[in-house]
Amino acid sequence: MPRKLIAGNWKMNCLRTDGVALARDLGVRYSGETEPAFDMLVCPPATIVDAVGAAISGSGVLLGGQDCHRATKGAFTGDIAAPMLADLGCTHVIVGHSERRQYHGEIDLMVSEKAKAAHEAGLTAVICIGETEAERDAGQALAVCSRQIAGSVPEGSTADNTVIAYEPVWAIGTGRTPTTADVAEVHAHIRAELSRVMSDSDDVRILYGGSVKASNAGELMAVANVDGALVGGASLVADDFWAIAKACS
Ligand code: PGA
Repeated sequence: MPRKLIAGNWKMNCLRTDGVALARDLGVRYSGETEPAFDMLVCPPATIVDAVGAAISGSGVLLGGQDCHRATKGAFTGDIAAPMLADLGCTHVIVGHSERRQYHGEIDLMVSEKAKAAHEAGLTAVICIGETEAERDAGQALAVCSRQIAGSVPEGSTADNTVIAYEPVWAIGTGRTPTTADVAEVHAHIRAELSRVMSDSDDVRILYGGSVKASNAGELMAVANVDGALVGGASLVADDFWAIAKACS
């Protein structure tokens, strides 16, 4: 079983002072663990990746970006290339988050190209997938995940350079979560689908994301094929994020 990964997606939150304080707090807690049962990743907004990286330096907490461009450089105003994130000490980058798919028109092919760019820069791509509420109601949750895996996971993906985050769109920021039986069903399906596109699919970490909190983390993290969590809102409060991580041990 892969070691659990607890990832914080800070989204468009935190100015430098708050972000550095949060990162320092997590760094102190993580480095104080004798044998942490989990890896911890924080993905701050691009403006403070550098400062957060300095704040967690030496603590063992990992650093990631929230998005990257498919190209390594060029005339793409406002975008961030994967090698730029690597240059700041990132080891991971989230790609294809549903908020990017929804508000920036990202389709599977773009997500796949971004993940490929991440791999080429030596980063682990955290590829997000998940159905909308209408798709779940129509009984299409598994089919949507199959389609997104086929379209968003590039050739050359391995358990080392890829993490999948299953985030049902209707569970993000809503306080609603699927039942553990539903999570088990989707994660098992994702694992089976991954075996079509990579040979070491058993070792790929499949995170659950969407309204993960300290109060539900224990039961969610205990579900088969759940190898960690991608946490939004609750990752902004050190006590809450830490309690989620500790629910893995
Ligand atoms: P949430 O967000 O934990 O606030 O629901 C999760 C995410 O979007 O990654």
